[in-house]
Amino acid sequence: MSVNYETTKDIPCEQLHQLFIAVGWSDGTETANMINNFNLPFLNSTVVVTAWADNNLVGCVRVLSDQMFRSVIYDLAVAPAFQNQGIGKELVRRCTGYYPDSEWLVGTTPKLAGYYEGMGFKTVEEVYLSIPSKWF
Ligand SMILES: CC(C)(COP(=O)(O)OP(=O)(O)OC[C@H]1O[C@@H](n2cnc3c(N)ncnc32)[C@H](O)[C@@H]1OP(=O)(O)O)[C@@H](O)C(=O)NCCC(=O)NCCS
Repeated sequence: MSVNYETTKDIPCEQLHQLFIAVGWSDGTETANMINNFNLPFLNSTVVVTAWADNNLVGCVRVLSDQMFRSVIYDLAVAPAFQNQGIGKELVRRCTGYYPDSEWLVGTTPKLAGYYEGMGFKTVEEVYLSIPSKWF
C-alpha cells in the first residue's frame, strides 16, 4: 500500500490517539479532554511530519527546533502493521532535511539506540537532568 507524507500540524486527535495506543504509549484511559487536545504538542512543535495510507494515520514525528543550532526529535511512531517498511527512517529524514546544519538530538532507550545510529546519530556520553513531567 502506498504511503504519502504530510506536514500539517493539525493532526486529527482521535487518529493520533489511536496511533499512540497502537505503539503502547497510551493505555486508552485518557479523559475526553485529553483526547480532544491530543495534537497540542504537535501544534506547538516546529516541524511535524506524518505518514498516511488511505487517509489513515500510520506514522508521525515532531521536532522542537531553534531552527539553527539545535533540533530535538520527539514522538517518532509507526503503526505496527506498517513497521519495517522504511517509514520511520523516511519521517526522520524529512525532519533533518529542514535544518541540515543543526545538531539533532533524540532521547530513546538503549534498545532503540542502534536504530538511530543506523541513521547517523551517535550516542553521546552526556548527563541529562530532568524535572519529571506530570504526564510520564
Ligand atoms: C522505532 C520505529 C519508529 C521504527 O519505525 P519503522 O518504520 O518500523 O522503521 P524503518 O522501517 O524505518 O526501519 C527499520 C530498520 O531499522 C532496523 N531496526 C529496527 N529496530 C532496531 C533497533 N532496535 N536497533 C537497530 N536497528 C533496528 C530494522 O532492522 C530495519 O532495518 P533494515 O532497514 O535494514 O531492514 C517503530 O518501530 C515504532 O513506532 N516503535 C514504537 C514507538 C517507538 O519506540 N518509537 C521510538 C521513540 S524514540
